[in-house]
Amino acid sequence: MSKKAWGGRFDEEPNALAARFSASVDVDSRLAEEDIQGSIAHANMLASIGVLTGADVKKITEGLAQILDEVRAGTMTWDASREDVHMNIEARLTERIGDAGARLHTGRSRNDQVATDMRLWTRAACEKTARHVDELIAVLIVRAHQTRHHLMPGYTHMQRAQPIRLPHHLLAWCEMLERDRGRLDDAQKRMNESPLGSGALATTTFPLDRQETAKALGFARPLRNSLDAVSDRDFLVEALAALANCAVHLSRIGEELVLWSSQEFGFVQMSDAFTTGSSMMPQKKNPDMAELVRGKSARVIGDLVTMLVLLKGLPLAYNRDLQEDKRPVFDAFDTVDDSLQILSGALATANFNKERMRAALRDGFLEATDLADYLAARGVPFREAHHVAGRLVRLAVETGRTLPELSLVELKKEHAMFEGDVSKLFDPEVLVDLRDVEGGPAWSRVQEALTDSMKRLRSRGTEAEKAAAKFGVVLT
Ligand code: ARG
Repeated sequence: MSKKAWGGRFDEEPNALAARFSASVDVDSRLAEEDIQGSIAHANMLASIGVLTGADVKKITEGLAQILDEVRAGTMTWDASREDVHMNIEARLTERIGDAGARLHTGRSRNDQVATDMRLWTRAACEKTARHVDELIAVLIVRAHQTRHHLMPGYTHMQRAQPIRLPHHLLAWCEMLERDRGRLDDAQKRMNESPLGSGALATTTFPLDRQETAKALGFARPLRNSLDAVSDRDFLVEALAALANCAVHLSRIGEELVLWSSQEFGFVQMSDAFTTGSSMMPQKKNPDMAELVRGKSARVIGDLVTMLVLLKGLPLAYNRDLQEDKRPVFDAFDTVDDSLQILSGALATANFNKERMRAALRDGFLEATDLADYLAARGVPFREAHHVAGRLVRLAVETGRTLPELSLVELKKEHAMFEGDVSKLFDPEVLVDLRDVEGGPAWSRVQEALTDSMKRLRSRGTEAEKAAAKFGVVLT
């Protein structure tokens, strides 16, 4: 910034390193649209209260509209010596329209200006991310429908535990994403208050109408306290926390895709479009996209931590530290948006291997719980039934057999209550459908869950429909 721009208080030119150190336009030029929106609302309000003339406001709004065109066309030149997005736009406006441009900043500070810009930007970003979440949910619902006959082991401790259906697993991912979406919605609702009119910290001597600007910008109301309005960024913490949660969920999904696409599992084959080869080993088809989704979540977690540490210990009101809020916010939204879209694409095109999943049900004695339940349902105390089933597993292990390979005589030797009908437990399809409890994997329950998920998605309206349509999903 030249000494002239700061006005009468300064004699010396700034130190070159200090100027570079404090310039932020390379990052915050991304707020240009919101900055212009905020300025238009402010200018109109200044006219409403008689501080600006109608002629000035006309020049200002037309000038800003032209700058917006330049920004969108990529022809706006950003000048680091003008420090940030706000000074760049104001200087450009004044270049264009003269005096009226210089009157725009009446009763406003960059402190309430930047706080307003960030709230506007983040509000829109939450909405966009929510749409990408909806896309992924839509893909999962469709894949769940398509794979309703895919049985697989469910795991605890990464050990095969009980048989489930693949759609039950996919719908678990949906539930995680539904909550992520809810958190984004909550954050968005709470951030929707206007800092504009708070000035540098203590409002201004001009009789600003903060209700008018709040309304014009689609905010629910003005923030109640001017010191708070310019100095807190808790709304960014909330958004980043929602994103970090989501990124962790995506990372866990990524991890499962990595595991499932290994030769050891072979549950899924990712399409060529979402895998890469090795520069050395010609046979390799690596699940890099899933790995990167897992890896990039680390940055999003870091972004949340950055924001928390940035705020910790700041006295009221505005401090320049707050300029550092933008990079983590932009990075977290970009990363999560990309990760969501990558997973949508990868899951829409993945090939789930029904036979490999089914084969994995054979080993691991997955019927053991059901043998215990069989006895318990016939009056044997569950602890005793559990013990009997354990002995049967041991017998099978020792004789190198599976549980279905044990004879009824052998079963009866462990407990007299076993009868011929126990053999029905050796059909995994039956085992899954026996788990007919709310939230469980029986087909009727999964069907219910699918219908519910679809309804929820549809209730979110046309945006969700558009999101689904992107992946060829029609929400009917
Ligand atoms: N670029 C600054 C930021 O992002 C704008 C506010 C600067 N205010 C100030 N008093 N220096 O926080």
